[in-house]
Amino acid sequence: MDAILVRGGTELNGTIPIAGAKNACLTLMPATLLTDEPLTLTNAPRLSDIRTMTQLLQSLGAEVQSLQGGQVLALSSHDVTSQRAEYDIVRKMRASVLVLGPLLARFGRAEVSLPGGCAIGARPVDLHLRALEAMGAEMDLREGYIHARAPAGGLRGATVDFPFVSVGATENALMAATLARGTTVLRNAAREPEIVDLAQCLRRMGARISGEGSDTIEIEGVAALGGATHRVVLDRIELGTYMLAPAIAGGSVELAGGRIDLVAAFAEKLAATGVEIAETATGLRVSRGPERIRPVDVATAPFPGFPTDLQAQMMAHLATASGVSVLEERIFENRFMHAPELARMGARIEVQGGTARVQGVERLRGAPVMATDLRASVSLILAGLAAEGETLVKRVYHLDRGYERLEAKLGAVGARIERVSE
Ligand code: EPZ
Repeated sequence: MDAILVRGGTELNGTIPIAGAKNACLTLMPATLLTDEPLTLTNAPRLSDIRTMTQLLQSLGAEVQSLQGGQVLALSSHDVTSQRAEYDIVRKMRASVLVLGPLLARFGRAEVSLPGGCAIGARPVDLHLRALEAMGAEMDLREGYIHARAPAGGLRGATVDFPFVSVGATENALMAATLARGTTVLRNAAREPEIVDLAQCLRRMGARISGEGSDTIEIEGVAALGGATHRVVLDRIELGTYMLAPAIAGGSVELAGGRIDLVAAFAEKLAATGVEIAETATGLRVSRGPERIRPVDVATAPFPGFPTDLQAQMMAHLATASGVSVLEERIFENRFMHAPELARMGARIEVQGGTARVQGVERLRGAPVMATDLRASVSLILAGLAAEGETLVKRVYHLDRGYERLEAKLGAVGARIERVSE
């Protein structure tokens, strides 16, 4: 099994290109199921999760071609033969549930395996089901599968009040509503940039949508959608992760294509620790001198708040601050599993429920550590960049789900990092 070896203590200088967003691509790809015309996605990231979604769509009879080294995806759902998403694929990736809304809207029925448990939390899909039920669907949970049926004549427009913000439930409802009869209003909807990207793509396909990016989205259903070509938005989580590399190791790095509006809440906290962030003509530049960083308090929240997907990486940064930082994880109930691994590197972290108290230390020390999920794994790599000696991060298959060519990107700015097999 692969592991990644990091030798710490080198400053980073140079440029890191940022790829298209995993979490946008994972909702854009199922949109192909809404039309029998071709959908082309450019700037697609090359990740194992994208390959899993490809496998899922192909299992339904959709065509998915990966072109230009994987950065272009040509999709067609002209010849879909099945509306059943099998457990063997769905269990690998929760985002598989995003085929539910499109299948139901276009074909009037869907059988989608329940995703099952996840390392960072229970992650039920009840809000997805409630939203589709509001549009007239009948849901029956049986033998580990969601059996969904639209009413005769198809889904109908409805007002959906989400009790709390869910990215996935907003995406499923948004896609389903594009083909529903009448108008749908999604209230307390997620405002993430990936939702805005999805709405823009759907509009290119002929959908009638307004309000994306706000907490109220309105969709007027149409009889059919057409094809489109859409460029996947930049990955703000990859961007934030690589902004932390020079912040943790020292030096100055340009994040090519970086946009401050996608990471504003995160950038504000990072700057408060004493790291310099500047917009450039081609992206963002992050620089850090020899001074010790300052502690800050962070609480995760839906966009435009501080993203939960950058919490682990921020903890690695705050582990060497000149004081105590308090991190609150308010989105997922079990997202501090990186804390005991960072403690193996000498970090001083107390976790109580959804709160972690990080007492900064002068320097971390390298150690063998274990990745438990995608963002936890990259936080250990980042910690290794500043640690004394060698850090060996095991189970990096988690990492490959969300970071393309990580060793090459960090190696190009001076990191001493390599993939080793155990
Ligand atoms: C998306 O997950 C992202 N995944 C996650 O990124 C991200 O952490 C999350 O949004 C929050 O920003 C993708 O886009 C593929 P939610 P999603 O529905 O849609 C609860 C990464 O590292 N909830 O907004 O699953 C849920 O348990 C991943 O790239 C219900 O209770 O997140 C959680 O506590 C990890 N019932 C909260 O809401 C539901 O029906 C927010 O979840 C749905 C959600």
